[in-house]
Amino acid sequence: NEVIFEKSVDSTQTRAKEYFSLKSKNFVVIAEEQTNGVGRFKREWKSPINGGFYGSFVFKDNVDRDRLSAFNLFISLALVETFKYYTDEIVLKWPNDVYLNGKKVSGLLTEYYNSGDEEGIILGIGINLNPTRHELVETAITLSDVFESKVNIQVFTHQLLKKVNHYYGLYRSVPFSKVREEYLKYSNALGNEFTFTTLDEQFKGKAVDIDDRGFLKVYDESGKIRTIMSADLNI
Ligand code: BTN
Repeated sequence: NEVIFEKSVDSTQTRAKEYFSLKSKNFVVIAEEQTNGVGRFKREWKSPINGGFYGSFVFKDNVDRDRLSAFNLFISLALVETFKYYTDEIVLKWPNDVYLNGKKVSGLLTEYYNSGDEEGIILGIGINLNPTRHELVETAITLSDVFESKVNIQVFTHQLLKKVNHYYGLYRSVPFSKVREEYLKYSNALGNEFTFTTLDEQFKGKAVDIDDRGFLKVYDESGKIRTIMSADLNI
């Protein structure tokens, strides 16, 4: 698959959309820096030069929208496998984030995209690799903080691309149930209490299971079992 390297872009996510119709195969846009990196819930994603990996993968395919949650969890495992070259302290925060030492090191932004005559998934991945003079927010960490050495961004990128492609292939060929056990090894969700913020509500509850679609089952305060597709989980 084609890899497009850019020096500075507003957001690789928007760049990927611009290229979508021009390319016939899957591709990935990687930038050295982003001037307007975005996260979920329209948050800013700090993307300074030499600080990290900022890329958007385009998977042109018929999209099974019911499997987009599972898609995130497969890709989370690609991140785990890449991080494993550097550290063992990886925690997956369902559904989109990777944590090290209780702080966020990486996030996924998965979007369904339809150009009019073709559809696909645009997967944005942001990973803090090295500190720069642009400070990260208090709740974030870089991979180098736990690796205790500078991370070579080129080497990291090469490793990540291989793992993402591998897990995308798995996502297409097997159900989430096949990797669920593996996912649960790294997830902090099950058995723990969180405040769940979804697009339209907020509630407290205990995460009790992840089902075959990758949805989280939550036992809420009123004793009701809820099944959620996506949310922001906070302790
Ligand atoms: C999140 O944690 O909310 C998701 C963060 C996603 C950031 C990546 S960086 C590459 C791509 N381009 C963007 O503007 N955002 C994603």
